[in-house]
Amino acid sequence: MESPLVSADDEWSPLKAVIVGRAEHSAFPSESHHMMEATMPEEHIGNFKPSNPLPAEILAKAQAELDNFASLLQEQGIRVYRPKKFDWLKVGGYTGAMPRDGLMTVGNTLIEAPFAWRCRRHEIQLGYSDILEELSRSGSSRICRAPLIIGHDTLYDGVGENTASQSGHKWAINNSRPAFDTDDFMRFGKTILGQLSHVTNRRGVEYLQAMVPEGYTVEILNTTDEHAMHIDATILPLRNGLMAYNPGRVTEEEPRWHAVLRDWELHAYPFVPQPRESPSPPMYMCSPWLVLNALSIDERRIMVEESDTQFASWVKEKFGMEPIMCPFQHVNSIGGSFHCATVDLVRSAK
Ligand code: ARG
Repeated sequence: MESPLVSADDEWSPLKAVIVGRAEHSAFPSESHHMMEATMPEEHIGNFKPSNPLPAEILAKAQAELDNFASLLQEQGIRVYRPKKFDWLKVGGYTGAMPRDGLMTVGNTLIEAPFAWRCRRHEIQLGYSDILEELSRSGSSRICRAPLIIGHDTLYDGVGENTASQSGHKWAINNSRPAFDTDDFMRFGKTILGQLSHVTNRRGVEYLQAMVPEGYTVEILNTTDEHAMHIDATILPLRNGLMAYNPGRVTEEEPRWHAVLRDWELHAYPFVPQPRESPSPPMYMCSPWLVLNALSIDERRIMVEESDTQFASWVKEKFGMEPIMCPFQHVNSIGGSFHCATVDLVRSAK
């Protein structure tokens, strides 16, 4: 039988096929001011305005890092897909470097995010349609495109009504239409855990539940992150039965409410990651907790940013993992690390 082109339901089984993003012509995303304030580091807020390109030197280096990372994966026998080169600046878009935000594999189904941000609405269509086309040629895969928004987007109207988080702060979006970024979710087999955030609302979670194949369940993990946007700097499953988490964003008790994690070993990351200093490029969009944004190659090997040596030693000494160090700081500047910059399409033990 032909081997499937889309088939993965966790974050740690051996990686066989993956999308790796591209950095060229990325621009600072620009959304309503309160959205940017809610999700972005304060000192960089001024950058998030229309038609503001990310510095050319950062983009060139980020592209080289992505290409190097892609070759490294290929050398491990992993099939790598790359999106089209595209000028995001010209269409008021953001980037092709963060595909995890917009696509998620659940079993044989690849799901496109109904993005909250207007500047990302056409990201998958413009950058990834060739890949989706190729994947859909295999009879076993199902591609779920996001609904189109026609006319006025109501998502920001009267925000604050019915949108308070568990811990009482207000989300930047309302619940008037389904919205989520796929990176607010992680797969743990038949259970998918995700968070509500400034880009993911309840209707988004319901919509995702309706899209996943039969037998999969989406559950909400209550995080305590006031700036919540993307769960992959908050929890990091290292292998089946073992997860690291950010203790500032997840309580010790919360994961235990989820049957799938009941018997897992859960470890708070014991250090406070520190901001990198110049000459490292600025992290315009992320906190130093991006250190948890690692990518598992399998249950032992994990991709870690070259300078994150404290994290690498921790996973190595405490859990016997084998970190593979790879330069990625300029990609980090664009808004994410190895997990964000990829979409795993096939993970399987065979
Ligand atoms: N909001 C997270 C933080 O600053 C970063 C998440 C990055 N993830 C992504 N998919 N772009 O800690």
